[in-house]
Amino acid sequence: MKSYFDFDKRVERRGTGSVKWDLRDNDVIPMWVADMDFESPREVRDAIEKRARHGVYGYTAESDSLYKAVIDWVSRRHNWTTEREWIVFTPGVMPGIREILQVLTRPGDKVILQSPVYAPFFRAIRDSGCHVMNNQLKYENKRYTMDFLDLEEKARDPRTKALILCNPHNPVGRVWTQEELTRLGNICLENEVVVISDEIHCDIIYKGYKHIPLASICDEFAENTITSIAPSKTFNLAGLNTAYLVIPNARIRREYANTILPKRATIFGGIAAEAAYTYGDEWLDALLDYLRGNRDFLIGYINARLPQIKTAEPEGTYLAWLDCRELGMDNDSLEGFMLEKAGLWVNQGYSFGSGGEGFVRMNIGCPRSTLEKALRRLDTAISSL
Ligand SMILES: Cc1ncc(COP(=O)(O)O)c(C=O)c1O
Repeated sequence: MKSYFDFDKRVERRGTGSVKWDLRDNDVIPMWVADMDFESPREVRDAIEKRARHGVYGYTAESDSLYKAVIDWVSRRHNWTTEREWIVFTPGVMPGIREILQVLTRPGDKVILQSPVYAPFFRAIRDSGCHVMNNQLKYENKRYTMDFLDLEEKARDPRTKALILCNPHNPVGRVWTQEELTRLGNICLENEVVVISDEIHCDIIYKGYKHIPLASICDEFAENTITSIAPSKTFNLAGLNTAYLVIPNARIRREYANTILPKRATIFGGIAAEAAYTYGDEWLDALLDYLRGNRDFLIGYINARLPQIKTAEPEGTYLAWLDCRELGMDNDSLEGFMLEKAGLWVNQGYSFGSGGEGFVRMNIGCPRSTLEKALRRLDTAISSL
């Protein structure tokens, strides 16, 4: 194995201005925000260093080779043929989603979400003056599924203009199947509800599962879907602020072009994305093996030693969703317990909306030794209850 595939390597992140590591004291293990503790691939770092040495960092346009790298990646990894004119760069997935909501809705309209789900979606909908319609996921036998009857009802409301889909789903770890996506896509199409499909976690998929871009299923879905993707989760590039929307619908694309947000990759974001998408397959495959090892280690540990915690096996993402309801704590007590007793900084389930109470989200994108230390801390803290 090449040295840059050494995911066991511990990289000191404190003192780098890291949101994950530098906002709390030293004793807490940060396993919250969705970035990983791994170095990006060697080719990405080399490409950034080369560009940095040039010394002039003026306004920069996306190169033909960047578009080609994006189109080839999406085709190679996800079997979806996209066209260059559909791709619009943004400084991040969330800024892009916020602006697209401005295009699709008017104040007072309704937008469907499927909680528990990535918390900033709620705020984005409310900030655009719209109402959240919650099509809460169903949780049975440690598995989440969509409630299609409820979805049909909410989509039928004439004020419902959009749905934000999260695929793979953060935090519950589902990779939605072709059948589920087709059913959701048809309901939205029939009711003129446009889908914003956030597929930022699309490259982190475990063996046995397959990511299907909603828009790749048929032309009608493509016309009715705006897909957001980024290399940021996959290659750990979130600080470079570069993502992109894929908008096959020409009318929506034209209207989106008139919004305020810059439609640009950043200099280093563009350079990094191109290098990652051109040279990153082997690194990503090795990463997926490593993360699968972490996931299996976590589940094995919980099953063997922490019977009070239940967890569904994530199908994708490096985020584990732990059901802590048997600990019998309310939201504040669980938060305090995790931070002060276990010394773990995890995301609290209630922040993901209804259905998240009593759960926590744990980021396992870290060296196995960190994960092991965290689980031992949790074990000790639970034993002391
Ligand atoms: C589902 C989902 N969407 C969007 C984002 C944020 O993306 P960005 O930093 O590009 O705005 C995250 C980050 O964790 C996420 O999990």
